[in-house]
Amino acid sequence: MTDEYCREPWDAAALTARKSHQMAFPEGIASEIQEWIERQPDVVDDEVEQGDVVGMKELSQLARRVRTELTEGTGVARVQSPGDVDDLFLRRYYLAFGVLLGNPLGNYGRLYDVKDRGGDYTKTAIPISQTRAATGLHTDSSALDVLPDLVGLICIRPARSGGASRISCALRAHQRLAEENSESLSVLQQPHLRDIVTPGADRSQRLRNQFPVFGDQSGRGVTCRYMRFWIEKGYESAGVEPPDGLTTSLDALDGYLEEEGAVADFRLQRGEMLWVDNCTTLHDRTGYEDDPDAPRLLLRQWVKYVGSE
Ligand SMILES: [Fe+2]
Repeated sequence: MTDEYCREPWDAAALTARKSHQMAFPEGIASEIQEWIERQPDVVDDEVEQGDVVGMKELSQLARRVRTELTEGTGVARVQSPGDVDDLFLRRYYLAFGVLLGNPLGNYGRLYDVKDRGGDYTKTAIPISQTRAATGLHTDSSALDVLPDLVGLICIRPARSGGASRISCALRAHQRLAEENSESLSVLQQPHLRDIVTPGADRSQRLRNQFPVFGDQSGRGVTCRYMRFWIEKGYESAGVEPPDGLTTSLDALDGYLEEEGAVADFRLQRGEMLWVDNCTTLHDRTGYEDDPDAPRLLLRQWVKYVGSE
């Protein structure tokens, strides 16, 4: 496989130094969203289309800047909060944004509530996004045929404590493995079983649900699909012995992803958006404690680039 990178690998300092990945909220967008709400007071989230939102010039311009940063820059974009607006405004702003970036996926409903539903992902097959556990660095979706190009999050309410976002560059980890541990890298380039929690999977899909941690998705050069728990669980559920060296290789990968200076961390404030390229950036959040009267709520979107299906 190719070892070409579609972007410069980054560490936390390089990401912070790249000012263009953090954007202010242009004031003009507020009236565009407000006007849309007045024009269409009720919308079905999954039915919002380009045609509903293309007239929003300022928002379209911001979406173009975000998209450029995601495709040609670091693969990470953060947009500051619009300030004092209500939840309806934030939902519509975020919905419009997803449509302007590409085709939002509807596997979990277009806007998916990331909140603690009291479950334990280690005991039942549920996404970690439905718990308040720390997740570990990962990319989204463990199903072979469901691969969002972009993962977005908007913060509706931060947690009382904890719940910080952490992100790390998969290409940097790949580079470090290539430099120091090519044996582990080659294990990670082989297909591995993944457990499936994305709704709608049957048994035969489960058995063919395997793909490498480092591959070359859509001819983009090095890409990454990784969540350690679902790999280990995938072998366990299938009753298949994991290949030699798998645990050592996953340890090596985790070591490089978590290496000093590799992880950028920050806490999303209400109204703040984060978008990442799901094939080159891994994300994580720390465990958190809720205020029972105002529990943490983030809305997630999965987006495919137009033409990449
Ligand atoms: Fe995730």
